[in-house]
Amino acid sequence: MKVLSKGLIFAVAVATTAWLTSIAFATGGTTVSAAPVSTYAPGTAIPRHLAGTFKLAAAAQSQTAAQTPATPQMSDAVFKNVQVLKGIPVDQFMGTMGVFTTSLSLCCGNCHTGAGTSNPKWEDDPPRKRTARAMVTMVQNINKNSFGGRQVVTCWTCHRGQLAPSVTPPLDFAYGEAVVNPPDILARDQNATKTVDQIFDKFIEAEGGAAKVNALTSYTAKGKSLLFGEVGDGNPSEMFAKSTGQVATFVHQQEGDVVRAFDGTTGWWQLPLTVTPQYPLTSTLAEGAKFDAVMAFPWKIRTYFPNWRVSFGQTIDGDDVDVVQGQTTTGLIGTLYFSKKTGLLKRYIRYANTVVGRIPTQVDYSDYRDVAGVKMPFKYSYAWVSERDDWTFTAYEPNVTIDGAKFGRPDPKTAGEVAGRKAK
Ligand code: HEC
Ligand code: HEC
Repeated sequence: MKVLSKGLIFAVAVATTAWLTSIAFATGGTTVSAAPVSTYAPGTAIPRHLAGTFKLAAAAQSQTAAQTPATPQMSDAVFKNVQVLKGIPVDQFMGTMGVFTTSLSLCCGNCHTGAGTSNPKWEDDPPRKRTARAMVTMVQNINKNSFGGRQVVTCWTCHRGQLAPSVTPPLDFAYGEAVVNPPDILARDQNATKTVDQIFDKFIEAEGGAAKVNALTSYTAKGKSLLFGEVGDGNPSEMFAKSTGQVATFVHQQEGDVVRAFDGTTGWWQLPLTVTPQYPLTSTLAEGAKFDAVMAFPWKIRTYFPNWRVSFGQTIDGDDVDVVQGQTTTGLIGTLYFSKKTGLLKRYIRYANTVVGRIPTQVDYSDYRDVAGVKMPFKYSYAWVSERDDWTFTAYEPNVTIDGAKFGRPDPKTAGEVAGRKAK
């Protein structure tokens, strides 16, 4: 109740407005109204317009962070005017918004009345939003009627970052430089000169060897992280990881903490000052959080997929890379890119499913240095449809004891209210 009763108005700081999907909202002096339809934990920064739809769950109040079960919040229960994206959890719903914005190069405010101001009306139906809704149905019908229900046509298929899809192939395209848009699912390179095992073996050797990597069972790392669109050298940031499959990252922004956490069972996202500042992850988004946790000790990913395959080599920033990809039966896809020169990991991309298309998450590594005999990246960039943060680590602390609560549900008090911040 803290935030709701304080009467503070937060608007997204100027510095962060360039976030692709950041949205300003107001948490105001409203009280939680009657007839709540969903539950939410106390203290969470709930946008004014959503306040009436949340009930402060009595049960949640007595739970510690680590014990909080991840009961998915469903779109129709949490939002007011959902007509085509019904019956999906909030994480996937917000993922679809991210797919819209990235596919059409739009901001939330291009479809939503007042998004980016202190008085958003997400439930309003301006013309472009109505068009988008009709497009969702159209795309579902195309996939159903022409492709046997496979999700092969998405918003990106036609729009490619434009409001009005291009109709005619430009001749500069025919005779100019090739623009490569690799597919998500990569073809196996039948003539690959290396096997999956050889690529992983070389990687582990480059990392410092099996003995060294196996001796690293936990670490914390500190540094700065610059959110996309911000200026300056970034916000203080921390990462915590255990080789038993837990990871948590915290970017301490002025407005609150950007958090990604996975405790071995449940994954959480927190993006302060957004319409749904904190939510648990479901299905392939949750699997993705688990994948990220394993990738904190990337030599352990070898056993993640039983079906790794070697695809065609690519070039990233002028560096030739070996590419391996694997996939779970539920649809999580993971692609790893190893530098041919150093054998070290340069990038991974993983994909999660939504009803309108896949959400990519891309992590890039560089500036490897020695930590307890293991090569660890001192630069790390984490990007997905809602934000990107670019990390510069100053120090790693290997093999430390980490409080398990770090990996659990983020403290809702950090989701938008920061001590010392002046009320406006
Ligand atoms: C291309 C247009 C488009 C863009 C861009 C877009 N949305 Fe939406 N949004 C929609 C549509 C369409 C719906 C309604 C979906 C339905 O009826 O099932 C919707 C619904 C919502 C709702 C539920 C509102 C309610 O209470 O009913 C929220 C919240 C929301 N969007 C947030 C966002 C955020 C945050 C962004 C930026 C990341 C965003 N949207 C970007 C088209 C868009
Ligand atoms: C089969 C191709 C195709 C796909 C797939 C597609 N669109 Fe479109 N979309 C179009 C075309 C063509 C137009 C322009 C229509 C016109 O000019 O009347 C358009 C227009 C729009 C507009 C209106 C743009 C404006 O000028 O305001 C929105 C919004 C939109 N699409 C959203 C989406 C979303 C969201 C998806 C994915 C759910 C999607 N589209 C998928 C073809 C497509």
